[in-house]
Amino acid sequence: MSDVTAGATNISPGDRQAFQRRHGIIGRSTEIREVVDTIMQVAPTDITVLVTGESGTGKEVIAKAIHGASRRAARRFIPVNCGAIPEGILESELFGHEKGSFTGAVETRKGYFELADGGTIFLDEIGDTPISTQVKLLRVLESGEFMRVGSSEPRKSDVRIIAATNKSLDEEVRSKRFRQDLYFRLRSVNIRIPPLRNRRGDVPLLVESFLLSLAGEARKDILITDDGMAALMRHSWPGNVRELRNVIESIIILERGNVVDEHVVAKYLHLMEEPHDERSLPMHLGKAPEQAERELIFRLLWEIKTDIQELRGMVGELQHRPPLSLPPGDNDHGGTVNMDEMTLRGMEEELIAHMLHRFHGNRRLAAEALNISERTLYRKIKDYGL
Ligand SMILES: Nc1ncnc2c1ncn2[C@@H]1O[C@H](COP(=O)(O)OP(=O)(O)OP(=O)(O)O)[C@@H](O)[C@H]1O
Ligand SMILES: [Mg+2]
Repeated sequence: MSDVTAGATNISPGDRQAFQRRHGIIGRSTEIREVVDTIMQVAPTDITVLVTGESGTGKEVIAKAIHGASRRAARRFIPVNCGAIPEGILESELFGHEKGSFTGAVETRKGYFELADGGTIFLDEIGDTPISTQVKLLRVLESGEFMRVGSSEPRKSDVRIIAATNKSLDEEVRSKRFRQDLYFRLRSVNIRIPPLRNRRGDVPLLVESFLLSLAGEARKDILITDDGMAALMRHSWPGNVRELRNVIESIIILERGNVVDEHVVAKYLHLMEEPHDERSLPMHLGKAPEQAERELIFRLLWEIKTDIQELRGMVGELQHRPPLSLPPGDNDHGGTVNMDEMTLRGMEEELIAHMLHRFHGNRRLAAEALNISERTLYRKIKDYGL
């Protein structure tokens, strides 16, 4: 492992604070300072960085800061969720494909490695990358070379890799799910972000900052009492900074009063701990899940319909024919969606398939567009056998 250790150079507190402000990294604990010092050292280089830490600790925040402080800042930063993209599609997403290389490859497409030339690729959830793709990643890391799917022509690209995982890659290597050579290559520099419960001193700063940005948006003045803050600091934050942010957001939106003491904090921590899926989160209180679901499906069906109309328009233009125009509500003209015959389940399945297709199998983007969690999307994909 390369020897870029925190504090090896003398970074002044002023420089560090300015860096943190510029890149939105909040925290003054020794742990965060060490992380920031390492980032400041490695950012200007092209060295591969592995960022590890529990879910919600800020791995993506750190990856973006490294890119933002590098000579690549003006070029693209492309996040790829290696765990959420199905095996077959991941390679074509990363390396591109040639027309006809597989069913559905109707045209030649550039992959992220070509698109990010001069920039950074963020390989998120690297621990979930299929073994076959790991070999190809190792090759790019070692030689900068890759091949589009369906092509034997090696291509080169100038891309910096930052990878992240909340899994123990040591454990993954031991159980033969992760290649050791790739692991060694990735962890040239390993930035470990400690869980929030090990740096509780950062809690007040994070709370202040979230209050400032989120309460500002909601035009609400919230006062956290000393015992309220103490309760927030005592909590173990299994979901780390993301959970803290969610709790503060819920308090701002749902709490009637402006004073937040330990009882108010306890109420919201309890609310977050209850088993639920995302539709029963506080944000959705007041709406029956079925109703919310139905609204969501209809909103998105409307979008599909608009897409179909647009596509028809384009096809019409291509054939020098006036485009078909569909009156709103009329959908019986051979499109994939016939509202009269579909069940709610069928519509949902159709919608999910559509979004997966639209985002080339990228489940994270599809889940975002559908406004459901990736976990729920996985479950539904399995349920529907998609
Ligand atoms: N040090 C920090 N300063 C400011 N915001 C932070 C910090 N750490 C995390 N956050 C915020 O917490 C949330 C989660 O951060 P992020 O997405 O980077 O976590 P992650 O480690 O990538 O999580 P996951 O493993 O679930 O993908 C985001 O809203 C991010 O802005
Ligand atoms: Mg992340």
